[in-house]
Amino acid sequence: MNRVIAGNWKMNKTRQEAVDFIEKIKDVEDGGNIIIVCVPFTDISAVAKVAKDTDVKVGAQNVHWSETGAFTGEISAKMLLDAGAEYVIIGHSERRQMFGETDETVRMRLKAALSAGLKPIVCLGETLEERESNKTHNVLKNQILKGFAGITPAEMENIIVAYEPIWAIGTGKTATSNDANNTIAYIREVFEAIYGAHLAKNLRLLYGGSMNENNVAELIAMPHIDGGLIGGASLSPEKFRKIIEIAY
Ligand code: PGA
Repeated sequence: MNRVIAGNWKMNKTRQEAVDFIEKIKDVEDGGNIIIVCVPFTDISAVAKVAKDTDVKVGAQNVHWSETGAFTGEISAKMLLDAGAEYVIIGHSERRQMFGETDETVRMRLKAALSAGLKPIVCLGETLEERESNKTHNVLKNQILKGFAGITPAEMENIIVAYEPIWAIGTGKTATSNDANNTIAYIREVFEAIYGAHLAKNLRLLYGGSMNENNVAELIAMPHIDGGLIGGASLSPEKFRKIIEIAY
């Protein structure tokens, strides 16, 4: 199965900085795997232009569930596609924690993205408090049951899921490769219970949370980890290239 290395730039890089980044990595080859950069809305069209004819795919970091309308500050799936995005992150913990997103809005965004033809990267993950009180499995199961309610098996084929323990994001604390693998194995089991073994086996499950050029080899060697969603380390073209080379 092909691996996925996706960068999440969050609120970083002007258009020029974004274009300079792509210029530096545009010769990387995916070797049948998938390389994605999820960039700020304002960078999408410029990045899509330089990334055209390369192995680098372009993603956005959020999408609204309506097609058009009075939603000041929001962006629709059609607009993202029009700007050149192919992928979109949905339900990142920063959106859930700082901008009031819920499993229900994740579900609505997911539906809208899929019906427009965008490929979603859906984020799941528990807080430190939930982890310490042994609620990780429950929290993840709930996020899946509610966030993916009504998603068909055919739709699932276009979805990538990222497990990002919130305590590991931007903190320098990575889950141990064993921990990450075990939790991702559990997530696969939950999807298996809903969609069956074949679909669960083919579902691409990424790890995210302080992944970098030094720990990617160990994480990616784990049987259930199919790739990574990388924040901080994806901002440097040198580090991102290194991560891709190690992962593939
Ligand atoms: P990080 O972010 O790699 O900086 O921890 C990951 C993410 O939030 O997607």
